[in-house]
Amino acid sequence: MEVIILPTAEEVGRAAAAAVVSVMRKKASAVIGLATGSSPQGIYTDLRRRVNAGDVSFANAYGFALDEYIGIPLEHPESYASVITRDVVEPLGFTPDRVRVPDGRAAIPAFAAKEYDAAIRAAGGIDVQILGIGTNGHIGFNEPTSSFASRTRIKTLAPSTREANARFFDSPDQVPTHCMTQGLGTILEAERLVLVAQGSAKADAVAAAIEGPLSSFVPGSALQLHEHATVIVDEEAAAGLRLADYYRYTYANKPEWQQVS
Ligand code: F6R
Repeated sequence: MEVIILPTAEEVGRAAAAAVVSVMRKKASAVIGLATGSSPQGIYTDLRRRVNAGDVSFANAYGFALDEYIGIPLEHPESYASVITRDVVEPLGFTPDRVRVPDGRAAIPAFAAKEYDAAIRAAGGIDVQILGIGTNGHIGFNEPTSSFASRTRIKTLAPSTREANARFFDSPDQVPTHCMTQGLGTILEAERLVLVAQGSAKADAVAAAIEGPLSSFVPGSALQLHEHATVIVDEEAAAGLRLADYYRYTYANKPEWQQVS
């Protein structure tokens, strides 16, 4: 795993965007795994700047969102379908019918979940998966004790996740109790993982995921099993890392052939 510590949240966004662009340069029809929430906003902002500058185009790319709430209508402004349209598809110029979000409203959710994994495979698999991490260590909405082998499925949101996401809703009780999320096994099949975290609230989760034991209690520790995982954090989110100096040293001495972009 590569761990990159940068001074500011803005630099985290820029570095992660550069990793996505490096994938796009090799394959204009790349399949991008899309996270929602606050963490990837800096990535999308920088990608938008690059799209507007004519540096990259997502018109031929494919997108698969990590997760979706169950229990709110598609047109709810905080459904991840709405968020992905607003934050990713429109500003980055993705072709709308090439971007999918798990179907949280399916009559038979188990079928829809299976079909989602099948659609990812049919698209050739995810080339680069953007990830954030919850304060409880979740990635996607794989809450603690999620199996490392799990596939896209329905999960019950942890009370701390509902609390954290209450900021997007008018009141905490409006946050759905359930979701459909790519599983850890699904996420681990992506060619490349790029996880970003900013701020001191994420420091414990980041340290546990990177340096703690491999444990389903900390779903983010699944990244330790991946061949090409990059974690990009700001100084605050890096505060709990015991080997922070080593990561800084490694990045500062990174040979040209190993550059992120
Ligand atoms: C979002 C997702 C979650 C978030 C995590 C952090 O699609 O899958 O894992 O990345 O809850 O959320 P923020 O970034 O809002 O702190």
